[in-house]
Amino acid sequence: MLQKVVRSAVIDAPIARVWEVLRDFNSHDQWHDVVEKSRIEHGEPSSRVGCVRSFTLKDGNRIREQLIGLSDKDWQSTYCILDATVPLNRYVATVTLKPVTDGDRTFWHWESRFDAPPGREAELRQMVAEGVYEAGFANLRRYLAGGAHAERAHPASGTAAREVRLSRYGGPEELEAVSANAPQPGPGEVRIQQSAVGVNFLDIYLRRGWIPAMLPLPGVLGMEAAGTVIDIGTGVTGLLPGDRVAYLCPQPGSYCSVRTLAARHVVRLPADVDEETAAALLLKGVTADYLLRDLARVRPGTRLLVHAAAGGVGSLLCPWARRLHATVIGTVSSEAKARIAREQGCEHVIVAPDHRFAETVQSLCGGVDVIVDGLGAAAVDGNFGAAAKRCHWISLGQATGPLPPLDPDRLLHKSMSFSRPVVFDYVATPRELQERAQRVWQALAAGVLPPPRIERFALAAAGAAHQRLESRASTGSLVLLP
Ligand SMILES: NC(=O)c1ccc[n+]([C@@H]2O[C@H](COP(=O)([O-])OP(=O)(O)OC[C@H]3O[C@@H](n4cnc5c(N)ncnc54)[C@H](OP(=O)(O)O)[C@@H]3O)[C@@H](O)[C@H]2O)c1
Repeated sequence: MLQKVVRSAVIDAPIARVWEVLRDFNSHDQWHDVVEKSRIEHGEPSSRVGCVRSFTLKDGNRIREQLIGLSDKDWQSTYCILDATVPLNRYVATVTLKPVTDGDRTFWHWESRFDAPPGREAELRQMVAEGVYEAGFANLRRYLAGGAHAERAHPASGTAAREVRLSRYGGPEELEAVSANAPQPGPGEVRIQQSAVGVNFLDIYLRRGWIPAMLPLPGVLGMEAAGTVIDIGTGVTGLLPGDRVAYLCPQPGSYCSVRTLAARHVVRLPADVDEETAAALLLKGVTADYLLRDLARVRPGTRLLVHAAAGGVGSLLCPWARRLHATVIGTVSSEAKARIAREQGCEHVIVAPDHRFAETVQSLCGGVDVIVDGLGAAAVDGNFGAAAKRCHWISLGQATGPLPPLDPDRLLHKSMSFSRPVVFDYVATPRELQERAQRVWQALAAGVLPPPRIERFALAAAGAAHQRLESRASTGSLVLLP
C-alpha cells in the first residue's frame, strides 16, 4: 500500500525569502543538516524542471532525485526519487508555500507518497516525517536566521580568503570585496590558492540578474581561475597539493582568493603556461576549440564572420580559424581594434560600431558560411543580411542585449541554421575538458594562438574590470589578481 507523509510548519520569514531557497533544487546541502553533499548532474540549472540532484546523506546513503514540477506562481515544487540506497520506492514529494496572513511569515506544507518494503512502512514513514521534514523545518529556520549557513560555509578547518560578493543584481558598484572562508575539500574536491581569475562577459549577465537561477544571491561571480592546489579530498586522482592548475566550472564562484570545488573541473597546467595566461585563455580558448571543431566545422575556404574580433574570444578564434585556412572577416568598433584584429589573422576587418556590416560582408565575399555572434540583439538584422545560403549562425552571447524571439521562417529564406551553445556542455566530462584544454595549450605552444593580451585588475577592483568590459574599451582578456 502507498505510504503517505504530511507535515507542515510556519517559518518566520517572508515567502519570497523562503521560496528563494527552496526553489533552488540544489540548495539543500546548504541548509539541511542530513545532506552531506549535493550536485546537479550535467551542470544543468538547479531550477530547471527535469534536472537531477545527486546527493549523499551524512549516514552515507546516496539518493538521486529529479525535479518534476516547479511553479513560481503557486510557490510549489514537486520531485521524485530516481535511485536511492534507502528503499523509498516510487517516492514523489511536493513542497508548497503559502503566505501567512500577516505577510511576514510563511506556511510550508510538505507531503509525499511512496512504497516501502513490507514490515518497514512505519520505520520509513517516521524517517521521512522526522528525519527529513521536521528536521528540515528546523534547519531552514536556523539557516534563514544565519546560523546553519555560517556554520557550514565557514567550518573550523576553512582557509581565510577574500571574495567579491554580489548581494544585489545590478551594476559594477554592487561588487564588494569581503572576507570569506574556503572550506576543507570534501570527497572529490580540491582547494585551490588562486593567483589569477578570468573575467568573462557571462559574469556581466549574471551580475545584472539575467540568469538568476545560475547565481542565487548572495553569490560570487566567476567561472574560471588558475592557481595552486592546497589540498585534496578523498577519491581525487591525478592532482596533488602543489600542482599548478586551472579550472572552468559551470557553478560561479571564482572571484575569490581560495576556492574549494569539484576536482572534475580542474586541469593541470603545462610548465610553460603561467597562471595569468591560463586564466586569460582557458574558458575562451576552449570556446574557440568547440566552435571551430564541433559546431562551425571550419575548413579551408570557410567564410567565417566573427563579431568583436579584438575581444577575448575573438582574439583566439580569429587566428585559430585563419590557421585552418578559413576566410576570416571580423567586426570591431574602432580603428584601433581593427589593427589588432588584422594582426590576429582577420583577412578583412569591418569597423562597424553601429553593427551595420551586412553590405560590406556581401561585397567582400558574397556572404558568409558561419557567423559567430557574441553581440545578440543589435546584430540580428545584420546577421541575416551577411549570411550566405546555408549559413550557420552561432549565437554565442548577447553583449548588446538579449536576442528577441526568432521567427524560424527568417531562416528559411537562406536555408540557414541557428545554434545557441554553452561552453560548459562542451566540457561535460573531465576527459573532454582535458582534451580541449590540451589543444588550447598546444595551439599556444605552436604559435597558432598568440600569447593573450591581458588587462590586469586587483581582485577587489572587479567592478572596474566589469566597467571596462562593458564599455567596449577592452581588447583581449581581463584577469583579476587576488
Ligand atoms: N556561449 C558560450 O559558450 C560562450 C563562451 C564564451 C563567451 N561567450 C560570449 O562571447 C562573447 C564575447 O565574450 P568575451 O568575454 O570574449 O567578451 P569580449 O568580446 O572581450 O567583449 C565584448 C565585446 O563585444 C562588443 N560589444 C558590442 N556592443 C557592445 C555593448 N553594447 N556592450 C559591450 N560590448 C559590446 C565589444 O567589441 P567591439 O567594441 O569591437 O564591438 C566588446 O569588446 C560574449 O557575448 C560572451 O557572452 C559565449
